[in-house]
This record gives sequence, C-alpha cells and structure tokens, in this order.
Amino acid sequence: MTPGVQPGPLVDGFGRLHDNLRISVTDRCNIRCFYCMPETGAPFVPHREILRYEEIEQVARVAARLGVRKLRLTGGEPLVRRDLPELVQKLAVIPGIEDLGLTTNGVLLERLARPLAEAGLKRLNVHLDTLDRARFEHITRRDELHGVLAGIDAAQAAGLPVKINSVAVKGLVEPDIVPLARFGRERGIEIRYIEFMPLDAQGLWLRDKVLKASDILAMLAEGIGPLDPLPVSDPRAPALEYRFRDGVGAVGFIASVTRPFCLNCNRIRLTADGHLRYCLFAHEEMDVKGVLRDESLDAEAREEALAERIRANVRAKWIGHEINSTQFVPPPRPMYAIGG
Ligand code: 5AD
Ligand code: SF4
Repeated sequence: MTPGVQPGPLVDGFGRLHDNLRISVTDRCNIRCFYCMPETGAPFVPHREILRYEEIEQVARVAARLGVRKLRLTGGEPLVRRDLPELVQKLAVIPGIEDLGLTTNGVLLERLARPLAEAGLKRLNVHLDTLDRARFEHITRRDELHGVLAGIDAAQAAGLPVKINSVAVKGLVEPDIVPLARFGRERGIEIRYIEFMPLDAQGLWLRDKVLKASDILAMLAEGIGPLDPLPVSDPRAPALEYRFRDGVGAVGFIASVTRPFCLNCNRIRLTADGHLRYCLFAHEEMDVKGVLRDESLDAEAREEALAERIRANVRAKWIGHEINSTQFVPPPRPMYAIGG
C-alpha cells in the first residue's frame, strides 16, 4: 500500500474544481508600478520568512497529488529571486504537473529566458503597459523599458510562448492600447488587457479609473480593424479572446471588474511567506509554513498535514470577490504580496 496523501480532487463548496496553483516566490520587485506598489517604503517579508525552494516543491508535490495540473510562478517579481531556474527544474518534473508558467515584468528576462526554458518552463507572461519610454517610467518609476523589450526578444528566441499583460488604467494608457496590439500582431504575441483592480498598495483604485474591456475593444476596432470573439477553448480560463478579422493576431481581456469570472475559478495561491489563499481578494489565509517547519512531523505526517491545509483552503473558498458590491473591502495584502 502506498502511504501518504489520498489523491484529489479539490472541489469547493460551489462545485468548482481546483487544478491551478499560483506560487509567489518573492514579494520584492525591481520596479514600482503605481497600481501595485508604493514608490518607497514597501514593507517586505524578511528572508527567513520566505519559503525555500525545497519547501515550495513540497507544497507543489502535495498539490499535484490532490489534482493540481498547472503551476505559475509569480512575485513581486519572480526573476529577482536567486537561481529561479533551479526551482523551475524541481517543479517541472513533479508527476501530474502538465503546465508551468511564469509571470514577470521582463526587466531581468534577457539573461534568464534561456536558462528558464532549459529548466522546463513552458510559457511566459510579460507585464508591459506601454511602448513609450516616458510613460513606462511614469507608470513604473523606473527607466527599464529597453530591458523588458530585450527580455521579450530573448524569450521568443528561446522558444518560449509569450503573452503580454497590460493593466488598463483609464485616463492613462489610452494612447498605448493600439500600439501594443500592433506590436503583438507583429510579434505573434497576444496582448491581454487587464482591468485595473483594487489591489494597489496605496488605495488609489477608483471604479472610474477602470478602463473597461468593452472600451478597449472599441478602440482596437477603430484603430486597427474589426475583431471577432474566439471560440472559448477553456471555459475556466479568465481571458475573453478576440481575433483580428484580417487573421493577424489576437488579443485577450481579463475583465475582472466588468465581467467577473469567479464562477469558473480554478485557482489557489501560495504566498511567498507560505500562506494559502483561495482568492486574490481573500481576507483569510491558511498557513503552510508552520507545517513545513514543524520538526515534530515526519515526512508522511507533514504531507498529510499539507494536504489537509490545501483541502481546507479550497473548502473555505467564497463564491467570488464582489468587487461590484457596495460591501466590497479590498484585501489586506496588495498585489505584490499576493502575486496576481
Ligand atoms: N490591477 C490589475 N492588474 C494588476 N497587476 C498588478 N497590479 C494590478 C492591479 N492593481 C497585474 C500585472 C501583473 C499581474 C500579475 O497582475 O499586470 O502582470
Ligand atoms: Fe477566483 Fe477570486 Fe479571481 Fe474570483 S477573484 S476569479 S474567486 S481568484
């Protein structure tokens, strides 16, 4: 008889199957996008509180036994964590894991794209809001656009499929919508416009600062040409996708505010300091670091305890974020401390 964790599946109280784990490897970042981080003085988690690679691997192995099939590494900025390809290598070989992605701001990607691909990374999302150097600096408070563009080149040269995440803030990025889509069409990269969400560290979010997916779609149709919705390939994927009618390229929309997709949610999250979250906007978390570091547990008991925490987190999941309700209260952690 094989000891240890009984296999999944991870189904919550609303019948949603959870097969997707997002792992934040650090809360630190090398730029300072205003809709995520404060300009100065962001409180970071001390190093000893951050999960080690072996610890992350243990959680991922147990999650895979419970039916998790997709992993995505996030931050802060994951590439600022030392030797990230080593973690990718550990995660890529876990039995059951079929997909392994990474979300990065791209600043350090030029040097790391190839080692990450060789370690077993399958896909990349690069965060980029503008191709304009001055606006990039305004948004991120850093002059790093050249590095991001070089990183995208390197990722494509290393054979990694790339998508671009672009946060849609009204009154700011309108001039960037069409140039980004053109860039994507030239490069075979899908641009994903993400509606600005109330996850910023400084509480700057306001409903009227959300540039809506429907408005972006209209801007693209006018600036480039007509688009048609793509058939939904995975009903659990959050993006609504459209193809340009001329056959060149596609764009996606993460319309978290105007079209919440919580009913299809298949995600759980592990924070860099070892807490499970069933939602970006959750107010409660479950600790796994205590289990990982509890020296009274043998390997089998530790795995069983981790499995129980993961199951409990999924069981506790709420129906959705209620951003559109008057009762909505933003979560205590800003984006950089959750991982997106
Ligand atoms: N609203 C929407 N998206 C955000 N991101 C960061 N902060 C916000 C926000 N306040 C996006 C970035 C990053 C992804 C993980 O989340 O594009 O790539
Ligand atoms: Fe899932 Fe929460 Fe995102 Fe809704 S807001 S899709 S429940 S993670």
